[in-house]
Amino acid sequence: MNINVIALFPEILQSSFKGLTGKAFKENIAKLNLIDLKKFSNNDYGSVDDAPYGGGEGMVLGIEPLETSLKTIKKPGHVICLTPQGEVFNQKKAVELSQLEDVTFVCGRYEGIDQRFIDSYVDEEISIGDYVLSGGEIAASVVIDAILRNIDDVIGNKDSVNKDSHSEGKLKGHVFTRPSDYKGKKVPDVLLSGDHEKVNEWKLANSLWVTREKRPDLFKQLQLSEKEMILLRHYGDFLKKKHD
Ligand SMILES: C[S@@+](CC[C@H](N)C(=O)[O-])C[C@H]1O[C@@H](n2cnc3c(N)ncnc32)[C@H](O)[C@@H]1O
Repeated sequence: MNINVIALFPEILQSSFKGLTGKAFKENIAKLNLIDLKKFSNNDYGSVDDAPYGGGEGMVLGIEPLETSLKTIKKPGHVICLTPQGEVFNQKKAVELSQLEDVTFVCGRYEGIDQRFIDSYVDEEISIGDYVLSGGEIAASVVIDAILRNIDDVIGNKDSVNKDSHSEGKLKGHVFTRPSDYKGKKVPDVLLSGDHEKVNEWKLANSLWVTREKRPDLFKQLQLSEKEMILLRHYGDFLKKKHD
């Protein structure tokens, strides 16, 4: 996958990718092409923004520097603009975007991007949530990180991605590591039992229980099988007691 990013502060993205996502770029599973918008100024002051027509606060990133920077990319592919006005990003979208070969992210700053650039070149507008950031760079990092996790070879164990929160409409649930008893705080016995079937049943029940507790909106949309309902009832009381 070729990922291009046009940004006023591309260095913010440079430091974003470590561990698994860093490995994706180091091993050329994905390529990251960061484009510094500042280099595409069309005036003697070196600026790429100007005051908004009609007045109002802040500055607006101009169409010409954005267009010129985009034209330097051989295959921009799907062009995405990060904006709080876009469709809210989620796991389904991350999986969908991970299928692309070429993608270009355009990051706004200040009051945003001249609408004519968006109308002419942007295929999709994405928001990372209903709040306003100072710039699109962090939003692009978030979206790219989530995409990379879904590319084959980035995460060795595909199962771990498939069982992550939101991949099947529910949350993953509780996880534990050594020691099994920390000052009397114990890991659930079933996880130490070595009985794989029981462990899997507990994990499923725990995931359903956690979803119901933390995200009742997601839980409502789940269509539970009879077995899942029985497991939730069976382990649910135990989990409730633990948290009372
Ligand atoms: C201060 S914001 C501009 C907000 C704009 N004036 C508005 O009210 O819609 C500057 C830039 O940050 C980015 N940004 C801010 N919030 C975002 C969000 N929730 N998701 C994605 N990008 C965001 C966008 O690229 C935006 O152009």
